[in-house]
Amino acid sequence: MKRLLLAMTIIFAVACSAPKGNVAAEVAIIPQPLSLVQHNNNFAITPSTTLVCEAMELAPLVAYTKEYLAIRTDKSLPKSNYISITLDNSLVEEEYKLSVSTESVKIVAGGYGGAFNGMQTLFQLLPSEVYTKQMQLPATVQGCEVQDRPKFAYRGFMLDVARTFIERDNVLRYIDYIAYHKINKLHWHLADNQGWRIEIKSHPDLAKIGGFRGGDSPLRSALGKWNEKYGGYYTQEEIKEIVAYAAQRNIEVIPEIDLPGHSEALLRVYPEMLCNYTNDELSVNGGYDARNVVCATKESNYRILEEILSEVCALFPSKHIHIGGDEVNMSQWQRCPDCSAWLKRNGYTDGHKLESMFISRIQKILAKYGKSSSVWNEAAKGGSLSKEALVYSWQRVEDCKEVLSRGYNTILMPQLFFYYDMRQSIHENAPIWREAVDVRKTYSFDFAELGFAPETIALVKGFEGAYWSEYLLSQGGDKSLDFLDYQCFPRLCALAEQGWGKNGGEWEEFHTRLYSRHYDRMADMGLRFRITPPVVKYEDGLLSLERIDNSTLYYRDDATGKVRRYKKAIRTDKPAKYLFWAEYRGAKSPEVAHLSHYETIQPKVKLTSSMPENPKYGYGRVSEYYMKMRTTRTCHKGDWLLYEFEEPVECRAIEFCVRNYHMPITRLIHSGHIEISEDGKNFERVADLEFGAVRLINPHPFKAARIVCNETAIGGSDIRISAPLIYPKY
Ligand code: ACM
Ligand code: ZN
Repeated sequence: MKRLLLAMTIIFAVACSAPKGNVAAEVAIIPQPLSLVQHNNNFAITPSTTLVCEAMELAPLVAYTKEYLAIRTDKSLPKSNYISITLDNSLVEEEYKLSVSTESVKIVAGGYGGAFNGMQTLFQLLPSEVYTKQMQLPATVQGCEVQDRPKFAYRGFMLDVARTFIERDNVLRYIDYIAYHKINKLHWHLADNQGWRIEIKSHPDLAKIGGFRGGDSPLRSALGKWNEKYGGYYTQEEIKEIVAYAAQRNIEVIPEIDLPGHSEALLRVYPEMLCNYTNDELSVNGGYDARNVVCATKESNYRILEEILSEVCALFPSKHIHIGGDEVNMSQWQRCPDCSAWLKRNGYTDGHKLESMFISRIQKILAKYGKSSSVWNEAAKGGSLSKEALVYSWQRVEDCKEVLSRGYNTILMPQLFFYYDMRQSIHENAPIWREAVDVRKTYSFDFAELGFAPETIALVKGFEGAYWSEYLLSQGGDKSLDFLDYQCFPRLCALAEQGWGKNGGEWEEFHTRLYSRHYDRMADMGLRFRITPPVVKYEDGLLSLERIDNSTLYYRDDATGKVRRYKKAIRTDKPAKYLFWAEYRGAKSPEVAHLSHYETIQPKVKLTSSMPENPKYGYGRVSEYYMKMRTTRTCHKGDWLLYEFEEPVECRAIEFCVRNYHMPITRLIHSGHIEISEDGKNFERVADLEFGAVRLINPHPFKAARIVCNETAIGGSDIRISAPLIYPKY
């Protein structure tokens, strides 16, 4: 029913003549164009094909295209064998028509964006090697007629470079990836508690100091290596280069300086911008003061922020500057004599009223420099946010609806559909602070099904997918970049579909487009994307996989470690023993197993520690398993946690976790080891903790396990402890 009004038309030619040269198979464009009619009149790109484009404003696109297609350029049309790009002002800016015949490929576009979009569609009509920039010629362009334009003007990707610094080259790489998907906004999260990533010439210490953690930096390490300094920032020259690189690819870069909360990096460099009270947490237990809110009533703060923001405004041509507004810890304002006096004087108790005042002061500063504000949806909660703001709705779907009902132009990115830091299925590696979100979930977002009032949809300016990088840090080195790819793709393919207007069909139709053609494209782009895993079934003693795509399937016998290609069902009475996954040209699915693989046992256990327990999260909870415990302070060298079992434990694996479960870089024993004891008295050191966790495989039966801290923590207010996960013998 809901797809009846689809404007999409796809007509497949029945008897294709055998195409010559390097051939693209069936058309499968992502995002699905508004209208596409396939025919048999393929075009062959040869070394003598000419790219013809007269419009001067398209010169950057011509230069871009020549990086991918080794062909000549000219200003005038030959008789045949050409690709032409022309502008037609009867089309809207991002609209294009693409027409393939045996003689030519013609792209007619409303503006630069439309011409760029048309070129991306042409790339997808070619063999996927086009993305390697080394495609062999001749190459066949599938014959078709396309008429296309995006439904939403804003199709965004948010990259958090504050939590984990991402080097310039990798930002450029991501700009390419999103451009291939016709995503046209890069929301660049440049400042947060964990780092300040943009050079500010009037305040050079902001990046020079606030861009680094650990060592002699006033920002304590988030990674746990206290003495190792790490981080980075972009110089203004690099920022100009990145902005220009993006513009050539039809991408506007929208910078974010997250204010007035999430500002610890700024406030570590300028503590005078904090509210006017002294921190007692520090003196009470030596913990880490997490003060991260800019005082809203210090006049001097607005002067400093204007000096900073005026440089940000000058560097970025975007109309909007994102100024944050999310998750402000209002208690810091309530404790401030000046901020609380402001609330009282104005007859308020709700800190959101003060946030509204702060945001409107910043909006006035931006207006002086010709800019409008973008804000997170909490900034609208004070009730007086000006309608010029563009609101990014990131919380629940209900929050999105509320912001729309109040008449704000909105970017939709509810976390349960569009947060790509989130784990993609329950048993894989990544945070899961809400629910697992996979590509299918992003693709499933539907206004009607979610009950959006139709009259509010005109206020939706588009969609955004967000990658928050707290966890990226813990992946380490090159693995981080593979992990970034794995988290972002193909979820961003589904985001692209949403932003384009979701012209495709149901999930199966999109998934078929994805694996049949786009897996090859992503592989040639260089992406280590995630493959949707096959489905494991166990019936009548037979363990089998339901194949859902064209990837290669493998399995591992967990008891022996042997890896094999999966070809047919496995007869076994121990389905828990086998782990399966799919691979496609360097990309992988997560490992999946029969449910019995994840079953754990809960032997009687007692937990004690040299660190005092938080009575609300006491150590007695360990016996209930799956419950979390907390200490009341962070760890010192020599601190210990002792797990004593009533009976010796026999298991195939046991996992201990002493960290914030979802955010492995916080509240952890970062440097420590584990000792086990067969008799409960004599202990043997068996392994080191890695990011506060350790997994022991096939340990000897043991009566006790002790985690020992090897280094005193400088930061952190407590240690988070999970009950151990104990997996029975096969
Ligand atoms: C957010 O996730 N705090 C915008
Ligand atoms: Zn204050």
